[in-house]
Amino acid sequence: MTSLDDMAAGIAACIRCPALVASRTHTVPGEFPNGAELLLVGEGPGAHEDLAGRPFVGRSGALLDSLLLEVRMPRQEVAVANVVKCRPPQNRAPTRVEVDNCRPWLDQQLSRSAPRVVVAMGSTAVAWFFGRNSRISDLRGAAHQVDGRHVVATYHPSAALRFGPKGAPRAALHDDLALAVSLCRRT
Ligand code: URA
Repeated sequence: MTSLDDMAAGIAACIRCPALVASRTHTVPGEFPNGAELLLVGEGPGAHEDLAGRPFVGRSGALLDSLLLEVRMPRQEVAVANVVKCRPPQNRAPTRVEVDNCRPWLDQQLSRSAPRVVVAMGSTAVAWFFGRNSRISDLRGAAHQVDGRHVVATYHPSAALRFGPKGAPRAALHDDLALAVSLCRRT
């Protein structure tokens, strides 16, 4: 077992958030293919992810897969995780306490998988990396150095779905993923 697999077992046994423990079907630790240089971070599992135990397998995941194809980065080569590893009921955003309880897991995933580039998707992930007063519109379109690695802030795929295929969030997400991939490929 790799240390990331060990961590998935630790996450499955985590009981720090009683409300989420009571409602979850599966924990969703994330996926870390060997050698992945790019890590995408979302907010938390939705209903599909809770059932499957895998991140981004619902509608947002399908859009993410298409966007990754457009920027020529196969999903199988990309690590994918969330700020919280258990589904918040009724698709609510995770609370500040839940985010804080879960923080050590993503911290450890970052240090053990050591991605070259992270894409923080949506306000919860962007707040995790840049602080609670950060705004996606101010940060996106550029790579920022956070704790010695490139972090690109962008919209969540659900925002891209909400605004439709011709909406600004989809175009921004595409361009931000393309930027992240170009940073990974830079020698
Ligand atoms: N939304 C997220 O933020 N993460 C998932 O894994 C699925 C939907």
